[in-house]
Amino acid sequence: MNLLITNIKELLQVREPNILKVSGSEMKELPTIKNAWLLIEDNKIADYGSMENIPEIVADETIDATGKIVLPTWCDSHTHIVYAGNRELEFADRINGLSYEEIANRGGGILNSAKTLQDTPEDEVYDQSAKRLEEVMKLGTGAIEIKSGYGLTDEAELKMLRVIRKLRENYDLPVKSTFLGAHAIPKNYKNDPDAYMDLVINEILPEVAKEDLAQYIDIFCEKGYFSLDDTHRLLSAAKEYGLKPKIHVNQFNAIGGVKAGVEHDALSVEHLEVMNDEDIEVLKGSQTMPVALPSCSLFLSIPYTPARRILDAGLPLALATDFNPGSTPSGNMNLVVSLACIKMKMTPEEAINAATINGAYAMELSETHGSITKGKFANFIITKEIPSYTFLPYAFGTNSIESVYINGKIV
Ligand code: NIG
Ligand code: FE
Repeated sequence: MNLLITNIKELLQVREPNILKVSGSEMKELPTIKNAWLLIEDNKIADYGSMENIPEIVADETIDATGKIVLPTWCDSHTHIVYAGNRELEFADRINGLSYEEIANRGGGILNSAKTLQDTPEDEVYDQSAKRLEEVMKLGTGAIEIKSGYGLTDEAELKMLRVIRKLRENYDLPVKSTFLGAHAIPKNYKNDPDAYMDLVINEILPEVAKEDLAQYIDIFCEKGYFSLDDTHRLLSAAKEYGLKPKIHVNQFNAIGGVKAGVEHDALSVEHLEVMNDEDIEVLKGSQTMPVALPSCSLFLSIPYTPARRILDAGLPLALATDFNPGSTPSGNMNLVVSLACIKMKMTPEEAINAATINGAYAMELSETHGSITKGKFANFIITKEIPSYTFLPYAFGTNSIESVYINGKIV
């Protein structure tokens, strides 16, 4: 089965296979082919070029993309889309003046979602989560990472991770799984948080590894949640099971989580709303991808990750949604790309690089996803007729997507 797309106004993010991420000033460049064609064979990108030199191709199906832009699907490297219920009452509490921290201290927040998840049967959690996954695929997401962390008991954490596995089995896009048992300290461990870390490390982690339920390890390294010591302890233990870190750091306070991540060869350090100079310094020369989550900043009214300082230091940056019921009830990568431009002063080229190839890197998928490259999976977006790619982030809140393809098939 082959699919030919012709007369593409502009084909974005056309890269050689050796480009696995882009950093610093490289991010200002978005390689494109204007007036292009794209050939898909089965589930892979077979070839592309300019319409001026299009060869004779016999295609099973041809799409005329006159006036439309084609780009790789978004790679969302940080989400919590497996959850049960919602927290819209806390949203109203915040409007009425309570902070995210105050709500958490009253037993709301992550613990509230954990209670709901524990009480919800696995099938029901699956159905609710699958709906969200389908929603974000229609919005252009073609690869996703999903974290556990609303279980906070042995049984409920494994339930979440099995739901993630089932999503991976039932949907065509790559789904990476991260064990976030250290997301919040459950109420019954409030006076003995070390005992909860013992449970996570000595009981839950070995079972996660035995069932091969996660590729990555995460911890919410933050004042009032988990300390640097906890972080070192967990990441060392997870390494024994081959789980690489992808960790929540510097959301509200800079307590040294970035350095801890780099010391443990983290694949990524995520959030980064509060960054001191040392955090930026320590990332230089590392293979760790910084990940920003601007729709979380929007929803919680907290600072945005200082993208300009990060990029001007020559570092790479990825963008992700953080889709979760508490801090970011949205999985719209198009909005994330807009916010990165509007609020973080990233150029459209930088933001698109951050949401595609660098997002793929933050899931170890950039050899197969994240760009228009011969041999990569045929995951791409066809836009509606739009004047330019800059229109995508500019017209924030407008749905400029006409169709989404994953493995060469329309979503
Ligand atoms: O990434 N910061 C920690 N975890 C989530 C929020 C979790 C929640 O509020 O349910 C986040 O923002
Ligand atoms: Fe998160």
